[in-house]
Amino acid sequence: MIETKISYSWDRDVHRVGTLHTPRRLGPAALVFLGPPGAGKGTHAQHIANEYSLPRISTGDVFRSHVARKTALGLQSAEIMSRGLLVPDDVVCEMLREHICSLGCSSCLVLDGFPRSVYQANWLDCFLRTRSGNNHELLHNAPLAIQISVEHDEVMRRLSGRRSCPSCGRSYNLDSQPPVNSGICDYDETKLVMRPDDSESVIRERLMVHDENALALAESYRSRGRLLQIDGNTTVDAVRNAIGIQLESHFIF
Ligand code: AP5
Repeated sequence: MIETKISYSWDRDVHRVGTLHTPRRLGPAALVFLGPPGAGKGTHAQHIANEYSLPRISTGDVFRSHVARKTALGLQSAEIMSRGLLVPDDVVCEMLREHICSLGCSSCLVLDGFPRSVYQANWLDCFLRTRSGNNHELLHNAPLAIQISVEHDEVMRRLSGRRSCPSCGRSYNLDSQPPVNSGICDYDETKLVMRPDDSESVIRERLMVHDENALALAESYRSRGRLLQIDGNTTVDAVRNAIGIQLESHFIF
């Protein structure tokens, strides 16, 4: 028997219920966050990554970094992103492969914004199988998808209030998560900006693109029993707790 600590709440200091003696259970090779723009994929992926000390990769953030640095990939994807469309599958997959390999770790990955198509989901399965090599713990644990659903009106409200720090990348919201000093990053005091693809017309396009792919993508996980569905229309804390409760049965360290 291996000693495993089980926490029934994200608020570990308050609600930890003690140390149980249970057989060690295996986690998925990756946690993938699905959902429309503004669903909270980034917010909750970051929280889980922090909570469990796992590497989080946001494909959107990686692309934005390439765009800012004017790399070949950035120049190729900037226009596509500014129109709210998807970067071609083969380009995203190759970028992600390089990024994961550069991390040089074998722990569970927290993926925010990937996959967005069944093609990408299949690619990820293959990639993780190869990456697992002789690591049988990961080999037998397919990615687990957390799908956060949010109404379109709520998406509009959230994204029009989103502000980010161009320096450290931290995200704020004028309604739900304002900075201490208006318009200024709490951490490095950089002036906050709106993302260029958060204009109303581009948000509508992003929603349309999401909706075109969402059903088939979710089904590719649901049919294997690898889909957790979360109502994202509530507060950040409520969504966080809902994710925590659903994850418990799948992901115990
Ligand atoms: P990406 O950056 O991934 O954008 P997105 O998917 O549109 O998602 P967002 O970042 O807008 O929203 P989110 O769900 O992460 O919500 P967040 O937590 O930030 O991708 C950008 C572009 O890159 C794509 O359009 C595409 O061109 C390209 N790309 C990326 N990945 C790709 C891929 N795999 N394939 C092809 N192309 C790809 O929250 C949003 C706001 O709401 C924040 O202000 C937050 O504070 C607030 N908020 C969150 N939850 C709540 C809540 N419960 N209540 C109130 N406010 C909340």
